[in-house]
Amino acid sequence: MKYFIDTANVGEVEEVASWGVLDGVTTNPSLVAKEGGDFKETVLKMCELVNEVSAQVTATESDEMIKQAEEYSGWHKNVVVKVPMTIEGLKTIKYCKEKGIRTNCTLVFSANQAVLAAKAGASMISPFIGRLDDVGQDGMGLIAEIMTIWDNYDFDTEVLVASTRHPRHIVEAAELGAHICTIPFKVFEKLPKHQLTDIGLRKFLDDWDKVK
Ligand code: G3P
Repeated sequence: MKYFIDTANVGEVEEVASWGVLDGVTTNPSLVAKEGGDFKETVLKMCELVNEVSAQVTATESDEMIKQAEEYSGWHKNVVVKVPMTIEGLKTIKYCKEKGIRTNCTLVFSANQAVLAAKAGASMISPFIGRLDDVGQDGMGLIAEIMTIWDNYDFDTEVLVASTRHPRHIVEAAELGAHICTIPFKVFEKLPKHQLTDIGLRKFLDDWDKVK
């Protein structure tokens, strides 16, 4: 499973990339607004650190989305254009597929949406599991449903588990065979940690002090 970081903060990307575990970045307009700064500059810095950086279009009509998709994809070969799951978004994904522009279909909340995006030619689809849990639905259940459908057919589209909120989400996504998981920095920081690792290391170092 590929690990992406869900952020618009270049420092966070640099940090996790330095661990040797990072495959890509997902940004969205809310994350970009939170960090501030120039969007293109941010995306370009991230493209120097990882091979796949999702940059989201903000237009809602396909002709405008396509203009943004062409602009973003021209910035750097590592840009993946993020397109929302709407009918206009599907038209944009179809166009991008024909032009060889990689896309990540975002705001996917149902298996039907996932299949439509894959059929239109999305390189990745992003089901938002945490937001489904927030409204009392089963986010990881949707991933299970999508992976079953993917096993039944021959879609090239990668399933990117988004809106992850805690370390168990990452394990469960991997158990289901999802291709990518995008992880907020706060959750990333928890992944290498275990209290028994800390206790064990402290004991090793204390014992080593006695040898000296
Ligand atoms: O990148 C989109 C997604 O991961 C959003 O997560 O926590 O705002 O639902 P969240």
